[in-house]
Amino acid sequence: MSEILAIGSYTETDLAGLREMGARVVASLDAMRDLPEAERGDVRAVAYKGHHPFGAEEMALLPALGVIANYGVGHDAIDVEAAGVAGVRVTNTPEVLNDDVADLAVAMLLMQQRRMLQGDAHVRSGAWAEGESFPLNRKVSGRRAGIMGLGRIGRDIAERLAAFKMEIHYHSRSEKETPGWRYHADPVDLAGSVDYLVVALVGGPETENYVSREVIGALGAQGVLINISRGSTVDEAALLDALETGRLGGAGLDVFENEPKVNPRFHALETVVLQPHQGSGTQETRAAMGRLQRDNIAAFLAGRTLPTPVN
Ligand code: 8YV
Repeated sequence: MSEILAIGSYTETDLAGLREMGARVVASLDAMRDLPEAERGDVRAVAYKGHHPFGAEEMALLPALGVIANYGVGHDAIDVEAAGVAGVRVTNTPEVLNDDVADLAVAMLLMQQRRMLQGDAHVRSGAWAEGESFPLNRKVSGRRAGIMGLGRIGRDIAERLAAFKMEIHYHSRSEKETPGWRYHADPVDLAGSVDYLVVALVGGPETENYVSREVIGALGAQGVLINISRGSTVDEAALLDALETGRLGGAGLDVFENEPKVNPRFHALETVVLQPHQGSGTQETRAAMGRLQRDNIAAFLAGRTLPTPVN
């Protein structure tokens, strides 16, 4: 049996890389649980790709485990505290996906405000050819943008929106060095000061429903919420209520509370753009994420410094 166990659904490129390292690949945590005890006992490194919780119970099933290399920057599925207690290192894949995630945030904002889904339907249905005019929509450039969570991805989004001549506001745990962007210590105050609110928080228990009913209320009837972080960061019940009653202007969402089983109430809303958690989903970026995941495992097994450690 192999000392490397890859868990999750990987691309052919990633599978080739994992197999080259001699990894055994299983599709899910359930499949890992079903492995014979002797095979689980050989595993020193896990390559994890998934959003199901990987906690103390799962770690206990792999007694020789030394590292969990997560495929993704967000490692909220992995109980890092339990890993620390078990003496297990955790790594992630930061930086390599920043551009793609920031691109998608901006794309969803443009799609929502310029009603590009409706525009596409207007052409395809023949309505335009028959002389029906397409309603005017809202100007994006020059508006006020708020970034909730000014980490690496938040900054890349802010820089892109600054190129759209927007005034940039942000909220994070502490004030950061920025090119003149306005800091708001209070998230409700941030939402009340902008037209667009882009959520780029880390996931996990500390940020659960951070974008609360009050934050959504402060964004208001003309406001648009963009979320590329985790579904858990937004109070989804409050978001749906506000969208359905027109107390929030619209939303662009790549992540959801119960994904991939998205609440069907979203389907009926014309004012939302919905994406299947594809922020980092380009061939180039996914290949880079896989490479970084494998580099972390190789470094661990060789006793070298981990390239991108979490703990
Ligand atoms: C996922 C992500 O990891 O990096 C993250 O935090 O959310 C994504 O890149 C990817 O969808 C694989 O599950």
